[in-house]
Amino acid sequence: MPARNHEQWMATPEYPAGDWVDSRVYSDPEIHEQEIEKIFKKVWIPVCHESELPKPYDFRTTTIAHEPIVVCRGPDDKVRAFLNVCAHRGMLIERRPSGSFLEGQPSGNPKRMTCMFHAWQYDMKGNCVYIAREKEGYQDRICKEQMGLRRLRCEVRFGGFVWVSLNDKVEALEDWCGEAFAELRKRIDPEPLEVFHYHKAILPTNYKLWHDTNSELYHDYLHYHNRVTGFDEAYFARKAYGHPNGHVTFSSYEPSYDEYEGFESRGASSFPNTPPDGWFLVDLFPGMNFNLRGSAFRVDIQTPLGPDKVMIEFRGLGLKSDTPEVRQARIDHHNTIWGPFGRNLHEDLLAVSVQTTAMQNAADPRRILQARHEDNRIHDEIGLRHFYHEWGRWMDRDPSAPDKPFEGAGAVVAAE
Ligand code: FES
Ligand SMILES: [Fe+2]
Repeated sequence: MPARNHEQWMATPEYPAGDWVDSRVYSDPEIHEQEIEKIFKKVWIPVCHESELPKPYDFRTTTIAHEPIVVCRGPDDKVRAFLNVCAHRGMLIERRPSGSFLEGQPSGNPKRMTCMFHAWQYDMKGNCVYIAREKEGYQDRICKEQMGLRRLRCEVRFGGFVWVSLNDKVEALEDWCGEAFAELRKRIDPEPLEVFHYHKAILPTNYKLWHDTNSELYHDYLHYHNRVTGFDEAYFARKAYGHPNGHVTFSSYEPSYDEYEGFESRGASSFPNTPPDGWFLVDLFPGMNFNLRGSAFRVDIQTPLGPDKVMIEFRGLGLKSDTPEVRQARIDHHNTIWGPFGRNLHEDLLAVSVQTTAMQNAADPRRILQARHEDNRIHDEIGLRHFYHEWGRWMDRDPSAPDKPFEGAGAVVAAE
């Protein structure tokens, strides 16, 4: 068929609905708001790593689904999460991105979270321990014992990540993501890990487009590095698997790093139980990515900010026990591919940002293909079909006709 006229361009494709999605899932503000309510408020989100809170009273702040969160380590060494919102008049309690509560704030005591507004204070378990002029103002009607923070489900698991959920009734973390982590956790659980790299980017794209790039490796055509170090028989034999709850993994594979000038094998500093240069990848629904390339472990955590805006936090991790030499090797291996000036990362960032310019909300809906079927091998788009089947279920929207309810297209759970 020659180039198509408008009617032909807009015609419903004849191939199965699960093999394409409507681009409005990436651009419609109403769909975005529903994703926040129906998905991000309900699931487990890895918000940071335990090594970023090494000492009692260390804290980090973040948001999940527009809700401000504070995560802190108590004197009992336990990590807890709370809504970062004062019980008095809704003020954000802690405004810094990270730090320690060991030192007092100007209007509060050491070892307390102090609200700057009227000086209410909370301890590391979220108890309200001080209300300024409590009796004078509230007599016996309100007391600090009733004014604790909103506590959140919080667990430290799977390589030491701090997982938080806004949903008190969320299923057990092990059930939510355990199967998808079965292979990776053999490498990240034996020894404590440590974050050595952190940067974040606010990108003009939809969070799913970023997740998509991590779930389909057909786009290795974008990466000169991956074409040179891969694209051999073992590369094309690598398989993708769909797991319960929309998660996707890829079987391991060993790129030939020394095929690329200036790169070297990472075998000398591979993670525990990892073949030299072995590569393991977990794409966790709805938008987190865990990527171990032999010696360096990268984790992307996404916070959607709008239909065409997302914050991505990138972390690089090594083993806490690293010698300075090994740590430097990991940093080099990480940064040369994934650092802000690395070989691959900016290519992915550019692709998803430019992709978004071509599917703005006012544009005609595009049919975005995910129709490659190659026996679940690396360029098969099973990862995308698997994700959108789960997305349709949570949203009760058909990904290829998002104004219609979900009817099950694209069901491809295919773990082996
Ligand atoms: S709003 Fe926090 S003390 Fe008043
Ligand atoms: Fe990529």
